[in-house]
Amino acid sequence: MQRSFWAPGRVNLIGDHTDYAGGVVLPIAVEFGIRVDIEPSERIALTSDGRAVDVAPDGTGTPDRWGRYPAAVAAELAELGRPAIGIRGVVESNLPIGTGLSSSAALEVAVALALCAVADFAVARMELALACRRAELRAVGVPCGIMDQAASLLGREGSALLLDCRSLEYRYVPLPDELAIVVVDSGERQLEHTGYADRQRELAAGMPARVRHVETENQRVRDTVKALEGGEIGELGRLFRSSHESLRDDYEVSTPELDRLVEHAYDAGALAARLTGGGFGGSIVVLAAQSRAGTIADQLGGRVVRASAGARELTPRRMGSLPGRA
Ligand code: GLA
Repeated sequence: MQRSFWAPGRVNLIGDHTDYAGGVVLPIAVEFGIRVDIEPSERIALTSDGRAVDVAPDGTGTPDRWGRYPAAVAAELAELGRPAIGIRGVVESNLPIGTGLSSSAALEVAVALALCAVADFAVARMELALACRRAELRAVGVPCGIMDQAASLLGREGSALLLDCRSLEYRYVPLPDELAIVVVDSGERQLEHTGYADRQRELAAGMPARVRHVETENQRVRDTVKALEGGEIGELGRLFRSSHESLRDDYEVSTPELDRLVEHAYDAGALAARLTGGGFGGSIVVLAAQSRAGTIADQLGGRVVRASAGARELTPRRMGSLPGRA
């Protein structure tokens, strides 16, 4: 029997470059993501848009670039004791790659759910997020934090996920109905997080500006939650501005294009805007009044996204379209 699994991408509202430092983050899962349609098989054989992977059920083999993600997930799950049952099928994505919406985390999570399901292997969601995070490091050597995988697995419709990346405790923060979220791609591809690992080293070495960013960003996450829960929407602009400036000046992960887009967003009437995710290109996130969001998205060439449910099995298959596709 064919089974389908869905894993969304994510947009981080605020709290960037804090996850690997044991800080707090506030992402949402979005309605764009990755779907895998599979059936049990002897090997892990997946295709996607001309790319393919064919490895053993424990991930061993010699996958190409894209195939390294599913292979690494399989290897991590094998280490957790997953029985060696493979999957054969197709991977489809409506998540733009390299725009900072975590297409790699979504791929890891979708494949992980499929592999666990065919082998009747139960893993708690946070445990699975941790395995997928290790898979990212194994696949491409990016020492990412837990945010993207956790957001994909734990996302909830209408809410942001407040996650403490040290204790791994989390809770949901309902988003006010009058608030819309717009994502704008800078068009600058994030090349394997250029500089991402450098920033971690600089932070670990105690570089004052890097440490200052993490400390102030953690406070901004808490203040943002307060503002959202207290209905003080007016506060969000100040917090997002200050987050962007801190990422630009103290953490040095912005680009002139991201800076320009953020200014452009405010000019267009945004309530709040900042770069989101790892930086070095990728996207900005914009908060806007519902009534203005469509116009702002059009002006900036972005799109309105909704806080959406996390990864799950879709079987029985919804015919035709991917969730999120109009
Ligand atoms: C990337 C990483 C995340 C996180 C962000 C920055 O998206 O994958 O773990 O560190 O950058 O907040």
